[in-house]
Formats: sequence, C-alpha cells, structure tokens
Amino acid sequence: MPVSDQNPLVDQLREVHTEALERLGQVSDLTALDGWRVHYLGRKGALTQVIRGIGTLPTAQRPEVGQVSNEVKSALEEAFEAQVGAIKQAKLAKTLSRERVDVTLPGYPVSLGRLHPSTQTLREITAIFGEMGFQVFDSREVESDYYNFELLNIPPYHPARDMWDTFYINERVVLRTHTSPGQIRAMQAFHPDPIRVILPGMCYRYEAITARSEIMFHQVEGLAVGENITMADLKGVLVNFARRMYGAERQVRFRCSHFPFTEPSVEVDMDCIVCNGDGCPLCKQTGWLEILGAGMVHPAVLRNGGYDPERFNGFAFGMGPERIMMQKYGIDDIRYFFSNDLRFLEQFG
Ligand code: PHE
Repeated sequence: MPVSDQNPLVDQLREVHTEALERLGQVSDLTALDGWRVHYLGRKGALTQVIRGIGTLPTAQRPEVGQVSNEVKSALEEAFEAQVGAIKQAKLAKTLSRERVDVTLPGYPVSLGRLHPSTQTLREITAIFGEMGFQVFDSREVESDYYNFELLNIPPYHPARDMWDTFYINERVVLRTHTSPGQIRAMQAFHPDPIRVILPGMCYRYEAITARSEIMFHQVEGLAVGENITMADLKGVLVNFARRMYGAERQVRFRCSHFPFTEPSVEVDMDCIVCNGDGCPLCKQTGWLEILGAGMVHPAVLRNGGYDPERFNGFAFGMGPERIMMQKYGIDDIRYFFSNDLRFLEQFG
C-alpha cells in the first residue's frame, strides 16, 4: 500500500482542506459563506478539480484519493454547517443586545381620567339638595322660544328679554339661555302632585367670550311647588345649602331684585368666604358674594305649568356652578372651564 505522501492528489486534497478551513475562519457573513461553499465544495469547486486529475494516477493510488476526498468533503461540510450556525448565532446575539428589555423596570403609570370640575360641582350640589329631598329632573338644552321665554312670563318684544342674549336655531327654537324652562316641564310632568326638584344642565348665551362671560355654562335650577310654601322655606333651603357647600359659619342675605317668572324676586348673597364679610378683593370690599337668583314662583308661571295659583305656590332659584367654583377656588377666568387645558382640569379631583 503506497503511503499518502507519495500520492500527489492526496497531498493536494490535504492542502485544499487546510486552506479551506483557514479561509472559513475569516468568513463572517452568510453571503461570503455561500461563496466559500461554491469555491470549495461546488460542482466545479476546488475538491472536484483535484479529483479530476485522478486519471493521471496509477490505478493502485486511485482508491485512496476517493477515500481522502470523501473525508475532506464531509469534514468541510461539517465545518460549513458549524460556521452557518455560528454566524446566525452572532447575528441573533447582536439583535438581542440591541432589543434588550429590562424586565425589572417599573411600568409606565396609567393616567386616570377624572370628572370635569363642573361635573364634580354639579354632583356636589345635587347631593346636597338630594339630602333635602330634591330629586334631579332632566330637561332639554334645545328649547322652544315658548318654553324658554313665553311660559316664563316673558312675551316677545318684552324688554326683559334683554337679560338673555339668545342663540336662535330658528324663529321659534333656541338654545336654552337658562334652566328655568325646565320649571314648566317639571310642573307639566308632576301635575297635580307637589314638586321638589333641581334641574342641572348646560345653558347657552350669545355673548362676547371674556374672563367673566362664556357662551356656554351650567346652571342648577331649583323648584318647589306645593301648598303653603313661603319665602322662609326658600331662605331655609338656601342657608342650608350655603352652609353645606361653604362651611357651617356662612350667612346668607336676600336683596330685592326682579325676574319676570318670580314674584317677589331676590338676589341671594353669602358672606365672603375669604374675608368673612370684612371686605377683600374677591368681594370687591363689600363683604358679600352673589351666589344665585331666586324668588316665589309667579302666579302666571304656576298657571302655565298647570297649577292653580289660588291653591299652590312655590319657590324657584337658579345658580351657576362655574361661578360658584370660581369663588371657591379663586379662579379668575371662566374661559378655563371649556378650553380643554389639562393644566387646569387636572387640578380638580
Ligand atoms: N333663570 C335666572 C337666570 O338665568 C335665574 C333664576 C332662576 C332666577 C330661578 C329666579 C328663579 O338668571
């Protein structure tokens, strides 16, 4: 049996083997690796080239060439597969290190929504009146001129209409300028029973928007209808409300006023929550803050609601929760409420 170093093709095969492994170590991406495979293992590759020379050898040396070339071939194939694995692994490691996730990091805080400050105040007000036996009565925001004005004793062309700058949908339909038309709707719904309701809701006025006036705002209307209701009842209810809303020390006073749908009518003031009546910038040195308008339901309005004014009477009041909040929190611009500025809204609740 001839030894291998006497077999030139076997030597060449070994050289190809060594060289191929050496080059393989330098290949670092899959495309180059494929080039390497074609170059050494391909149909016209280096191994094949060597084997082609087999015809020049004496017959006795040929089987050894076949055997060694098979060995080299499978060794190179194995090395190739190993290198494919190594390159893929390296690539994965790189991606993973780039996409590293620290599972111990605390999560992002979930930002919780909250109720709009006006809604919070409406709920506070309805809760206080709820404890006094008033139930909530919902009424529409788009009203007829008839309900918003006429049934409330404000005929067309009456100068009192100047008190409410109005958005007209058409000649007969308006966006309610106050919650008072709900008084009529409540009376029609409850008749002939006695009534104790509050009506919270949005109102609209055709106004220039300034720090002191908005085109939209809330009101809470109150209405009580029954027999033998007096102004003392109205006062008791409002004093109780002011004390629950602003503290047990509050004083309330009535000032004469005028509304077409109440007789007599009053403007209700509360002693200033900042200076307790001594005089300060909030109350403009008067010691008093105006909190709402009120009065005894006008006989014509009772009649329009279906109640006989000879037998029934009642009181009504209307307040603006945005104004109430402005006093309570020292907010100096009503526009904050409906300008969707989170810096403002997030301060409440
Ligand atoms: N509706 C009146 C306003 O908008 C307020 C009010 C309501 C006055 C009920 C008296 C009775 O100004």
